[in-house]
Amino acid sequence: MRLTLRLFSSVVQKRPFFVSTPIFYVNAAPHLGHLYSAVVADAIQRFEKLIDPNCNVLFSTGTDEHGTKIQQAASKVGQAPAEYCSSISEEYRRLFAEYNVEHTDFVRTTEDRHKKAVAHFWKELVEGGHIYKAVYSGWYSVSDESFVPEAHTREVVQHGRKVRVSAESGHEVEWTEEPNYMFRLSAFREHLQRWLKTDGVITPSKYQKQLQEQLERETYFPDISVSRPASRVHWAIRVPGDENQSIYVWLDALVNYLTVTGYPDEDAVRARGRAWPADVHVVGKDILKFHGVYWPAFLMAARLHPPRRLACHAHWTVDAVKMSKSLGNVVCPRNTPVTGDALRYFLLREGTLHSDANYSESKLINVVNSELADTLGNLVSRCCGAALNPRGEFPALHEAEAAQLARRDVAQALLTRVERLPEQCREYYSSYQFYKAVDEAIATLHACNLFFEALKPWELRKENRQRELDVVLHLALETLRVSAIVLQPVIPQLATSLLDRLLIPKDCRSWQHCETPSWRVAGAIHETKNIRGGKFLLFPRLYTDKKPAPQNKKKAAL
Ligand code: ME8
Ligand code: MG
Repeated sequence: MRLTLRLFSSVVQKRPFFVSTPIFYVNAAPHLGHLYSAVVADAIQRFEKLIDPNCNVLFSTGTDEHGTKIQQAASKVGQAPAEYCSSISEEYRRLFAEYNVEHTDFVRTTEDRHKKAVAHFWKELVEGGHIYKAVYSGWYSVSDESFVPEAHTREVVQHGRKVRVSAESGHEVEWTEEPNYMFRLSAFREHLQRWLKTDGVITPSKYQKQLQEQLERETYFPDISVSRPASRVHWAIRVPGDENQSIYVWLDALVNYLTVTGYPDEDAVRARGRAWPADVHVVGKDILKFHGVYWPAFLMAARLHPPRRLACHAHWTVDAVKMSKSLGNVVCPRNTPVTGDALRYFLLREGTLHSDANYSESKLINVVNSELADTLGNLVSRCCGAALNPRGEFPALHEAEAAQLARRDVAQALLTRVERLPEQCREYYSSYQFYKAVDEAIATLHACNLFFEALKPWELRKENRQRELDVVLHLALETLRVSAIVLQPVIPQLATSLLDRLLIPKDCRSWQHCETPSWRVAGAIHETKNIRGGKFLLFPRLYTDKKPAPQNKKKAAL
């Protein structure tokens, strides 16, 4: 009994893998850029579970609900802020469910548990002597919810009106002069510089270099304001002990990452397996400064560890312009011609962390048609279909025929690719280069289609050369099995339905199960296994009114 208890508690105590998305402003409905942040984080946690199926994951997301711009958005639609926040927050929840974003916690900054965490965090900063009162004067951007140093603003003419904007975001700034609480950011400059030297603390490294350079260049590293007069910003958490001041929304928002660990409640923290520090915060490049400068400084001041890593991603653009609510050029995920996994596929296939990607509907249709339908789907239909595989089998690998076939270049090319695929993808996933992992998997499936065409299994069938046909089908099905396992972080639903179709047991779908293809398993006796045969359309081609692409007759027949 004692032993069981001990074992049980060691399982409970294992520190979880903690990955987060930013929490999303509820000032408008979600768009593709938001979904991208969430899908990147989801792919990271799915890969982690694939590598270690016993790994306990804390995957947090949620909504950022305080501040002027939320207050303004609510009044614009004539709703009370609380009611307005709930409805948009709900939209985010629905969005994530639709796109298989499997978060384990969804935090709203208007929840009590979060308000408690923020109040506690504030007190820690005060007790450490990191906060002081001053009159702040300077430029503020409501859109960015950020104070902007004068040197980072410029004057422009907008709609015939001279306005001052933030040079970085292009959003209008307004002059503010008000009593604020200030945070001694300047005291943390050297600590931050040291932290920013940690290898790989921000991925890709170009963002880490960017911040390092900024910290070196910035001759003036000012303290920052961490409160606003409550008379101005009403919809916010009050400063503990000072009803006249509201806590700055970014300080409020960043603390969400502690809230989800149970902070500051020791029992809750223990129950969640002491998740802090986060393994990785996924953030867009527009919010890098908040996560790479302010947040680690706040944490150091509160005597907590900074996050282990930030994964920073570039933006989605439409006609080369950043997709943004304030610019009004947003693409809503539901207004795209695809659903679920197909959109995830496109986002992770075309988006990269290091450079912006451009959205266009025709590109989306081309990519999913040529890769999910023609390359993956077509191979599945060929292997499972009645024309070649009427009994619905995963046939045995007959040794003599396999050895003979392996001598052909087209077979060699395939076997080599399948053998290399897991190792390559593991490296790409670990460095968040999803597009490269997908590229390898698609190239492998493509090689398999070429192999199929070269071997002409339909002729083997006609000529009753069953054992040779078996080997061709075996190699193609094995390629599909390995590829499906590897692609799970990107297209979880499609990969699952394919693995289900191949009757691969649920506990044989983790990374270790794809590392060695069947033909490399020493001394394995390959038996014919059943799969679920018959017509199977994994991913139907999309047709647009513009281009009714005729289906290839030969492919359709197979
Ligand atoms: O910044 N392409 O929230 P948010 C790619 N509440 N990603 C994009 C994008 C685009 N065009 N537009 C936005 C906030 N995003 C804060 C975060 S966290 C403590 C507080 C990404 O709703 C953006 O980069 O404006 C960020 O990662 C996420 O969407 C949330 O943006
Ligand atoms: Mg934003």
